[in-house]
Amino acid sequence: MSKFQNKAVLVTGAGVGIGYEICRQFAVEGAAVALNDIDADLASQAAARINQEVGREAVYAYGCDVADVAAVRAMFSDFVSKNGRLDAAVANAGLTNFGEFLTYTPEAFDRLMSVNLRGSYFTAQTAALIMIEQRISGRIVLMSSVTGGQAFLNLGAYGVTKAGIRHMAKVLALELGRYDITVNAISPGLIITERTVTDDPNAEANWAEVTPIRRTGHVEDIAAAALFLASPEARHITGQTLEVDGGWTTISPLPVGHPDKPEFSSQLR
Ligand SMILES: NC(=O)c1ccc[n+]([C@@H]2O[C@H](COP(=O)([O-])OP(=O)(O)OC[C@H]3O[C@@H](n4cnc5c(N)ncnc54)[C@H](O)[C@@H]3O)[C@@H](O)[C@H]2O)c1
Repeated sequence: MSKFQNKAVLVTGAGVGIGYEICRQFAVEGAAVALNDIDADLASQAAARINQEVGREAVYAYGCDVADVAAVRAMFSDFVSKNGRLDAAVANAGLTNFGEFLTYTPEAFDRLMSVNLRGSYFTAQTAALIMIEQRISGRIVLMSSVTGGQAFLNLGAYGVTKAGIRHMAKVLALELGRYDITVNAISPGLIITERTVTDDPNAEANWAEVTPIRRTGHVEDIAAAALFLASPEARHITGQTLEVDGGWTTISPLPVGHPDKPEFSSQLR
């Protein structure tokens, strides 16, 4: 039997990239999936592509902005009316907005907070209310980033939202534990997606070079983590942020010429 047979999951920001692959893997594993994107046409095309691959009507498309709480609630309500249940929600939608601190605008800041923090918070709240009503041992997965744990140049405001999401996992885990609902976050390093390759065509090689595991992350790596956190096997894990970064956050830069650099290994004590 497939791992998520008879389960229903909702994933936001899933027309392309990480969210799309999470939807695809859930559908392959037998789940009914709500695929959300702010771009309704993109959501429909993405759902149709996965349905064709799995050979059944597994995925329902929902076009809405996660910052619009009323629209998010209506989306969950429609999905549950079709499937009768909700087992997991992945609040994946997030804007990656580069900009240096000294010139960052209030408008960009407000939009970033609305999508990344307000969107994740109320996606999680809406999911939790349904899971509690249905007495389902639910799973909520949030999407943080390595930039929420470590300072990254020109991603300050974004990093603040991703740090907030790490804390969101902890506080929601505390409040929802009594209902047997777990809440965890995933913290991806640089992941190869349509967007990141457009930003840097050499992203794959550039990031492999500074990653201990010597390769760059792919959407499959993040989807695998999301499916694990949504699985029954993860029932005793809650309030955590899982780094999925090939070890990037484990290292500290060394000064040029430091005796512990590999090129000076003959001098190692
Ligand atoms: N790709 C990476 O390297 C990386 C690294 C760390 C964290 N993340 C996080 O992972 C998540 C997914 O990243 P990605 O690179 O796959 O995303 P992306 O930027 O490629 O966007 C994915 C989709 O989200 C949709 N979207 C944007 N705003 C939305 C909104 N308000 N409501 C609903 N949908 C919306 C977009 O239309 C797009 O189709 C984000 O939260 C991002 O911050 C990504």
